[in-house]
Amino acid sequence: MNHVKGVLSLDYHDALAHLGISSAHPGGYQMTEVVFHELEKRGVPLHPSSRVLEAGCGTGQTSCEMARRFGCQVTGVDLRKPMIERAQERAKREGVSVRFYQIKPGLLPFSDHSFDLVLAESVAVFNPLLPLLREWRRVLAPHGSLIDLEMAASFTLPDDARRAFQRLYGAVQVPTLKGWKEAYETVGFTDVQMVRSGAIRGLHAPLAIPNVTTLTPTTYTKEIMAIVQENQKVMMTYDRWLSYAMILARD
Ligand SMILES: C[S@@+](CC[C@H](N)C(=O)[O-])C[C@H]1O[C@@H](n2cnc3c(N)ncnc32)[C@H](O)[C@@H]1O
Repeated sequence: MNHVKGVLSLDYHDALAHLGISSAHPGGYQMTEVVFHELEKRGVPLHPSSRVLEAGCGTGQTSCEMARRFGCQVTGVDLRKPMIERAQERAKREGVSVRFYQIKPGLLPFSDHSFDLVLAESVAVFNPLLPLLREWRRVLAPHGSLIDLEMAASFTLPDDARRAFQRLYGAVQVPTLKGWKEAYETVGFTDVQMVRSGAIRGLHAPLAIPNVTTLTPTTYTKEIMAIVQENQKVMMTYDRWLSYAMILARD
């Protein structure tokens, strides 16, 4: 498990789950709206017959929105049980129908070609990249689309920045924009577009984790607080190295 070395048993994602943070990706929920807009604009409209897989759905905000607003048939999966529990609570509260499953790393529990769209927001960066992208591609129907919003390195990262992102976020790699595009091409997508990219610094919500001042004693433990503080430190030190990448991959 990745964690703030030698001190904590929880990791960054556990802290997100504990705090119930939604839209924990570059740009926060505003950028999810941009994802919907780009899909529409590029000929991948969401509608009731769309079978959508949200990989790494976290607390389920995007999944529930796709089901509520567009009537899509949405399946959300995440590795973490607390995330799936929060997502299920959200769907119930909002009265929307979404299937949420906790999954294990590795192969997805779905047959080949089960989905028309795979959507991910800040997920691939935490995984060995090519096996994950291959698996996402496997479950896509022929002519399906994949949209992925991820952290990216503005330049090849210096070692200290790479280590800091690895230690705090468990980022297995932070590819450059070119690296992301190449990874999608490597797993066989023939039409890979970088539909949006830019510096994380300029975004309204760079990486959605709250400022310490917005936490109350009931919402954090010492461990959670340490992760939040570490996040602020890492962001202040290294955010100039970070960009975001929104990739649309198709055949
Ligand atoms: C930074 S959070 C983003 C959550 C959500 N997409 C959002 O934007 O709020 C990353 C999430 O991806 C999940 N995750 C990481 N790797 C995964 C994988 N291979 N399959 C499913 N979930 C994964 C983590 O458990 C965590 O909930």
